[in-house]
Parts: sequence; C-alpha cells; structure tokens
Amino acid sequence: MDNQDFATRQIHAGSLERENFRPLVMPIHQSATFYFDSVEQGAALFAGEEDGYFYTRIDNPNQRELATRLAELEGGESGLVFASGMGAISSMFWSLVRSGDHIIANKTLYGCTYELLYEGFPRFNIDVDFVDLSVSGILEKFLRPETRIVYIETPANPNLKISDINYLASTAHTYNPEIKVVVDNTFATPYLQQPLGLGADIVVHSSTKYLNGHGDVVAGAVISDAATIKLIADNGLRYFTGSVLGPFECFLISRGLKTLDLRMEKHCANAREVAEFLEQDKRVKNVNFPGLPSHPAYKLAQKQMKLPGAMISFELAGNKEYCANFVNNCKLCRCAVSLGDAETLIQHPASMTHNSYSPEALADAGIAENLLRISVGLESASDIIADLKQALDHCDN
Ligand SMILES: Cc1ncc(COP(=O)(O)O)c(C=O)c1O
Repeated sequence: MDNQDFATRQIHAGSLERENFRPLVMPIHQSATFYFDSVEQGAALFAGEEDGYFYTRIDNPNQRELATRLAELEGGESGLVFASGMGAISSMFWSLVRSGDHIIANKTLYGCTYELLYEGFPRFNIDVDFVDLSVSGILEKFLRPETRIVYIETPANPNLKISDINYLASTAHTYNPEIKVVVDNTFATPYLQQPLGLGADIVVHSSTKYLNGHGDVVAGAVISDAATIKLIADNGLRYFTGSVLGPFECFLISRGLKTLDLRMEKHCANAREVAEFLEQDKRVKNVNFPGLPSHPAYKLAQKQMKLPGAMISFELAGNKEYCANFVNNCKLCRCAVSLGDAETLIQHPASMTHNSYSPEALADAGIAENLLRISVGLESASDIIADLKQALDHCDN
C-alpha cells in the first residue's frame, strides 16, 4: 500500500515486527489490546482454545511474567496480579463468597481489609466472625457448615501476633475440605514464609510493600492452585473489580523482586537491632517483634518463618500526645504509612492505618492509643537507633 496519506503514515510508517528482538529484560508491553491474525484466531483466544493475549484487563505479558514468578516463589500453581493489595483481596473474596456464606477472620487486620469485612460484606448477607486466631484451639468453636473462608494476616498488622498456619489449615480442612484458608503474606514475603507449604489454600499480597521494595508502586497479588486462580481471574478481576495492574507497574515489581532476598536479610538484621534497642529503653512499655524471646509466639515464629521480619510495633510509656511528640521529633525515620520500603517509616495505627476500627474494636484487637508501628528500612541500623533515641530524649525534655 504505497502513497498512503500523512494521517495513515503517522500511525503505521516504520512499524517494526513485534517479535524476535532478544531483550534480556522483559520490555514493558504498554498496549491495551493485541491484534489477531484473523477473526478465527480472535475467536479462539476469546474461547480459551488458544493461548495468547488480546486485552490487558484479561492478560498481558508483563502481568503473566510477574504472576508466574510470584507463584513460583510462593510454591503455588498459579498467580494473578492486581492494581493494589485491596484489589487482590476484594477480587479474591468476591470470587469465592456468596450471600449466606460465613467468613472467619482474624481480629487484627489491616484497616481496609477489616472495613471490607466489617462494613462491606454484611450488606450482602455475608456473616463475618472476628476471632483472635493466634489462640490455639479457638477455630473449632467458630466453624459452621456455611463457613467458606478463614482469613488471617501473620504476622498481623499492626500488633505482630503470629497465627499457626498449619493448625488453622488442618483444623479448617478436617471440618470441611472446601473451606479456603487465606493468608495475607505481605509482612513476611515468600522469602520468609510460605503459607501454601504449611497447608493454606490462598496467599494474598500487597505487592506495594516488600515485593516491590522501593515505595513507588501500588499493587497486589493472589497465588493459589490453578482452578482457584482461574475463578478469581474470570470473576473477581475480569468484572467484579477490574483491578488490573498496569504493565509499567509489573515491570517495576519484577525489577524489585530480583533483590528480595538481599533486602529482606538486611531489613530483618536491622529490625532485630532496633527491637533490642527499644526493648531495653525504659520509655518503651512493650515491644511486639516475633524475633524477641519475649514475644508470645517466639517459638512458633521460628518454626514458621525463616526470619522474624522487619515490622515492629511498640507502646511508649506515655499517652497519645507523648507518642505524637516522639514521632514528630524523628528525623531520619519518616512519619508515613505503607511499609517495606528502603526508608524507615513510622506511624500511629489507631489514627492512621487502623482508623476504620471503632475505639472498642481497637481495644479488642490490642491496638492501643500509644502503639506505634515501625517499618525498619535499609539504612544503617545505628543511624535508625540514634534517630529513635534522640526523639525519645526530646520527649523527656
Ligand atoms: C497487611 C496488608 N494487607 C493489605 C494491604 C492493602 O494493600 P494496598 O495498600 O496495596 O491496597 C496493606 C496496606 O497497607 C497491608 O498492610
């Protein structure tokens, strides 16, 4: 087709064949749609008779590569990536529950997950029991014929309680093999803990955090067996939420993942030093860190996790104003929500990440008004400790 007009040439001239470059790193496939060789091929792709890509809400090479890598790291058959952790969590729930079902959820959860379960699902006649699932022997008391999902975070945000994944999964599955035990593995990452290997059915992530590790992406993931992932892709992602992760964000997370083990080792080593410093300071009332022998589930954490993670929460020996004064005087540690970044982040759960909890629910979940949460970063541990110490000293004056 020679002699094309300017308007045509500005779109098509010089187009290279798309295949057969050999980049080491997966390029960013920033394309909403993919062309077909023929109408018949398009129909075959839509019908699932041929494998390939046709629309980025359904699948895209960057999404597929990242999801496959995450599934591999978690020891799952298949994975899916989402536009946020909440996109992943809500897509998973909406795909699996229906009116009349019952969910058992841990009492302590990230604030928006709690809100979805506490405010959202009862509107659709889905009953939720909030239980302290870190307590051994408690799940049996809440299981019912309608129970569809048991949902936990371990370590839990923000009180760092540890739940025994193996006990919860075997108890739920003995009662009814169809129950899905879901673990939010955001705090641990697959480098430290692999819930599927301990008997859980589904892992969810806020990939915004350690998986990406650089604080510049909001994203989520779900990993499970192939049939469950297909259900969540066909229902939750495709039309319930449409919570699709863009190709560029997939690229960034794939890049971050390459250093996950190195980052986690340093995060964890730093966190241990920070936790030990906090525990010996009299101005700190108590420290929640699964790597301290004083943690109630110290032994379980050692069994279930490779290292105790890098999230710490602690109560100061003072009221809410004392805590605010302390945080406001931190200089290196930034006052910010989110976690798992290179920067050390400190925040006040009761007024920030968990402000969707009522005062009674906060107390019940062990989130005191003088509780602070710190995501220990990758700076030098001695500089982080020096910053925390000077902020504590400042509160004394
Ligand atoms: C444990 C946990 N799960 C899920 C989420 C939600 O993830 P996102 O903010 O990526 O939607 C968060 C967010 O902080 C979290 O801490």
